[in-house]
Amino acid sequence: MPQNPASQNEAKRLAGEKAIEFVEDGMVIGVGTGSTVAYFIDALARVKDRIAGAVSSSEQSTQRLRGHGIEVMELNHTGNLALYVDGADECDSYKRLIKGGGAALTREKVIAEASKTFICIIDPAKQVPVLGEFPLPVEVIPMARSLVAREILTMTGGQPVWRDGVVTDNGNWILDIHGLAITDPVGMERELSLIPGVVTVGLFARRPADVVIVGGEPPRVL
Ligand code: A5P
Repeated sequence: MPQNPASQNEAKRLAGEKAIEFVEDGMVIGVGTGSTVAYFIDALARVKDRIAGAVSSSEQSTQRLRGHGIEVMELNHTGNLALYVDGADECDSYKRLIKGGGAALTREKVIAEASKTFICIIDPAKQVPVLGEFPLPVEVIPMARSLVAREILTMTGGQPVWRDGVVTDNGNWILDIHGLAITDPVGMERELSLIPGVVTVGLFARRPADVVIVGGEPPRVL
């Protein structure tokens, strides 16, 4: 559903603020990356005295959390988390997602895996019947870029495009696969993940979101 930027930002804000209702006293919160999550972090700042801290999925989110005086903790020290809140680039009716538009997909997938409940906060434009109109991000180690691109072309028929100039927080590169209609997200996530040199595929299908909040007046909790 096309939206103008102002109402899309307002929907992101409403989704981010609604997610605060899931925050419980003493929790360490997993925090994703992106413009929707930025609204969540700003709302989290208002209840920061109730939480123990946050595990961050990117340098960008770490800076914003610290700017609000929220302690950023290491996942290796916290162990598994009760709650993870993150955005998405696309979301289907099974709560399967495309993520990685902000290049933070690897740490996002690690935190999603470590979390009991994954709440995905989106504006209505992110809801799709079939994943793939948004180019699917794949993080690759730099020396494998062209090999992985050739394999992707053969395996999917999609067109891999190097996100030139972007280096992830892990020192890697991103290929965006254009022209996909992903009818088997779990299968594609598994197959692409097996290509040597692939670090992370931006499909979150094997471990989808548990709850989706669609921003609006009022927000919808799915
Ligand atoms: C970051 O790498 C992504 O997974 C984001 O969650 C996604 O791109 C959504 O970003 P926005 O909230 O800015 O739309």
